[in-house]
Amino acid sequence: MPGKVLVTREIPEAGLGLLEGFDVTVLQERPPTRDELLEAVRGASGILATATEKMDGEVMDAAGDGLRVIANMAVGYDNIDVEAARERGVVVTNTPGVLDETTADVAFMLVLAAARRLGEGERLLRAGRWEWWGPKQLRGLDVWGKTLGIVGLGRIGRAVARRGKGFGMQILYHNRSRNEDAERELEARYLDLDDLLQESDFVSIHTPLTDETRHLISERELGLMRETAVLVNTSRGPVVDEGALAGALGEGRIFAAGLDVYEEEPKVHPKLLELENVVLAPHIGSATIETRDKMATLAAENLAAVLRGEQPRTPVGP
Ligand code: DGY
Repeated sequence: MPGKVLVTREIPEAGLGLLEGFDVTVLQERPPTRDELLEAVRGASGILATATEKMDGEVMDAAGDGLRVIANMAVGYDNIDVEAARERGVVVTNTPGVLDETTADVAFMLVLAAARRLGEGERLLRAGRWEWWGPKQLRGLDVWGKTLGIVGLGRIGRAVARRGKGFGMQILYHNRSRNEDAERELEARYLDLDDLLQESDFVSIHTPLTDETRHLISERELGLMRETAVLVNTSRGPVVDEGALAGALGEGRIFAAGLDVYEEEPKVHPKLLELENVVLAPHIGSATIETRDKMATLAAENLAAVLRGEQPRTPVGP
């Protein structure tokens, strides 16, 4: 059988089952430390990784010349140095297409929860401080009929926009390039980022993390948003400057935010933790039983295909 496979985390059985026949080592549930990773990859032909493991040239060299594939169990692959992999002839794969609707559900959940102050209300109730129904109590913002601005109209952004349409929202979007097919489907209007931020009631971020998108939403961009606006991020934490966001939320310069991703996961900016007007989820965008099974399956299929000398289903890049 062609080689040793390292699975960096405990993954659903659906994926592991596809690796029978390889010499598989599965690390533990928690992310490995850097030293554990460098030790564990030695001699691996294939690595099935998740977004929490940094896969750079050092890790690839620690694996050795026999390394042929890194299969990420995530659609985002900013944890992988794709150029270093290309230089070493290592194929990189990810898991697009199987988590779009599931992640869009979480983005829309955050839109609703932030607008309707769900976290704040639940904290009040659980603390035994909910004493009566009140006419002015916990008034949030309507979502239906408002304007939803999508930053990054890829598969997930489009799925969020469809949910918005279901709520009677007008859809605006900003993307690297215009998507006329999506414009027809969603009656969406393309705007540059500044105009989108100024015109949207809700802004949902769906860009990959790259050098261009790091801190795409920072002090200046937050300053363009409405005082009644809600910002949602389910993409990657560093796309939003957390310190600037905490300032804007704390001073009421925007109404609320819903976050599933953070700049230095699992750490969360301490000021955000103190604020009532931000809903904080622990990176659960794709975390359903069905979708994690599909992600594990696709990652394992990709890995096995490369080790068998076949084309993987979803390679990254050409
Ligand atoms: C993804 O697939 O990129 C999710 O964020 C999980 O890492």
